[in-house]
Amino acid sequence: MFITFEGGEGSGKSTAIKHLVNFLKENGYEVVLTREPGGTPISEEIRKVILEKQNTDMDPWTEALLYAAARRQHVVEKILPALKKHQIVLSDRYLDSSLAYQGGARELGIDEVLKINEVATGGLLPDLTILFDLDPNNGLKRIADNERREVNRLDLEKISFHQKVRASFLELAKRYPERYVIIDASKNENEVYEEVLSAVKNVLRRR
Ligand code: TYD
Repeated sequence: MFITFEGGEGSGKSTAIKHLVNFLKENGYEVVLTREPGGTPISEEIRKVILEKQNTDMDPWTEALLYAAARRQHVVEKILPALKKHQIVLSDRYLDSSLAYQGGARELGIDEVLKINEVATGGLLPDLTILFDLDPNNGLKRIADNERREVNRLDLEKISFHQKVRASFLELAKRYPERYVIIDASKNENEVYEEVLSAVKNVLRRR
C-alpha cells in the first residue's frame, strides 16, 4: 500500500505521519517512511539544489524537471522495491506536490507537469492521498514559530503563491476523488491525527 501526504507549508503533516508510523508498527505492519524531494542519496542531492535559498534564478521548468528527476530515483530505488515486499510506503509529498506547486502555483499547467512526471513515476499512483488543507497565512505563521523548521526557497514565495498551491491541491482532490481524503489541518494535533488514522484504517479494511 502506498500512501502520500500533501499540503502547503506548516500544515502539520510531519507530526501526524510520525504518530501514524508508530501506530502501524505497533500493529505489526512493515512501514517505510520516506519523503520528497529526497528519500534516496541521489534524490537528497537533487533536493539540495532545488531548495537552496541562493538559487533564486532557477527556471520553473528546470525546477519541475529536477523534482521529477529526484522522484524517478525515489520510485525506482525505494518505493517500488518496498511495495514489492508488501511493505506500507508512507511518503511525505509525492507527484501531487509537483502538480500543485509547479503546475498550479508556478503556472506551468497541471497536465503539462503530469506529462513530464509520467516517465518519473512509471504511472505509479498512491492508493491514498491525505491532503492537509490549511490557510497559508496560518501555515506560514506556524513555520515562523517553529525554530527547528529550516526556511527553504519555496517558503520564501509570496502569500499569493501559497494560496495558488492550496487551490490547486483542492482542485486535484476533485480530480482524483477515489484516492483523496481532505483533512482540515486548522484543527488541533489530536483531531488531525484521528482523521488521518480513520482514513488509513478505511483503506486497510478494503484490502
Ligand atoms: P520540505 O522542507 O520538505 O517542505 P514541507 O515540510 O512543507 O513538506 O520542502 C519541500 C518543498 O518543496 C515544499 O515547499 C514543497 C516543494 N515541492 C514542490 O514544489 N514540488 C514537488 O514536487 C515536491 C515534492 C515538493
